[in-house]
Amino acid sequence: MKMEKIILTGDRPTGRLHVGHYVGSLRRRVELQNELDIKKMYVMIADTQALTDNAKNPSKIRDNVLEVALDYLACGLDPKKINFFVQSMIPELCELTMYYMNLVTVARLQRNPTVKSEIQMRDFAATIPSGFLNYPVSQAADITAFKANIIPVGEDQLPMIEQCQEIVAKFNNIYGEVLVNPRAVLPEKSVCNRLPGIDGKAKMSKSLGNCIYLSDEPEELKTKVMSMFTDPKHLRVSDPGEVEGNPVFTYLRAFATDEHFLEFCPDYKNLAEMEEHYTRGGLGDVKVKRFLLAVLESTLKPIRERRKELAKNLDYVYDVLKTGSLQAEEAASKTLAEVRAAMKINYFDGSDFLDEQKVRFSAK
Ligand code: TRP
Repeated sequence: MKMEKIILTGDRPTGRLHVGHYVGSLRRRVELQNELDIKKMYVMIADTQALTDNAKNPSKIRDNVLEVALDYLACGLDPKKINFFVQSMIPELCELTMYYMNLVTVARLQRNPTVKSEIQMRDFAATIPSGFLNYPVSQAADITAFKANIIPVGEDQLPMIEQCQEIVAKFNNIYGEVLVNPRAVLPEKSVCNRLPGIDGKAKMSKSLGNCIYLSDEPEELKTKVMSMFTDPKHLRVSDPGEVEGNPVFTYLRAFATDEHFLEFCPDYKNLAEMEEHYTRGGLGDVKVKRFLLAVLESTLKPIRERRKELAKNLDYVYDVLKTGSLQAEEAASKTLAEVRAAMKINYFDGSDFLDEQKVRFSAK
């Protein structure tokens, strides 16, 4: 039997989305929404998860709900094909989380490598909010509530999917086959998994101030690209340069197509030729950066313009989220009913519980 695809992904609304999100996931989602064998596709604004390490800063999360929605729609994600929703508007997710927590040990949560590195980055030490440590469990609720089987994510999310699979296996083993086992789908090009910041640091992140946002104006984009970190040993144009670990080339690997070369830099047929010249020496950083700028501008211009148009019509964006959240809740409540029935905590559904207890009491 051919499996029907149900896709679910999401992002935390802690800031506007950047080009790392674009190559890591958004671009893929736009393709996926047009595939024919998809039964349903959900995209979630994960505000509940964002609150796990922003409890004291709720307005940051609130303010970014519509920002992220705008980024989605501007990229071409289509509300006719995608069910968008806001995580906290689906209370069923909290209830599922509560039941799944009993299937996961604290030690297992502490071993999750992504959570571990986030704890380090945030300097939590002994002050880890328990909700934060637990967010992989809540993420398992996000996924299983919709019976999603395909989860398009970046590499950093693999530990979450793995934990979800463990929860599914455990739940189904104890209570019966109710939950669907999900599979992660990674970006095709591995450079897209973790785009470095413009400063060359391992990750593009808001707190490091090294992002290129989808909504950046042309002038900001230019300033950022032209100031990007490159190979520090490539001092003169004639010097041989290093492309590995050079963020300008990493970005080109993620964004540049042969058509871009034809249009903006016909000296080279493709990136391999340009990289070869840079490695040999004789190709200056400014020329490479100008090319990257042209590539990024041609990609981001239509997104930026659509975003501006959409921002004039927030009623529409709000409505997409509101309608989508109501629909999503309907789907999640069906799964929750099955979960409760499987766990036999559906006491007031019909007369099973009372009948069974009457038999038990009369046998005493
Ligand atoms: N953890 C994801 C991120 O930080 C967001 C997320 C929450 C998510 N729930 C999810 C992604 C479920 C995929 C599936 O980007």
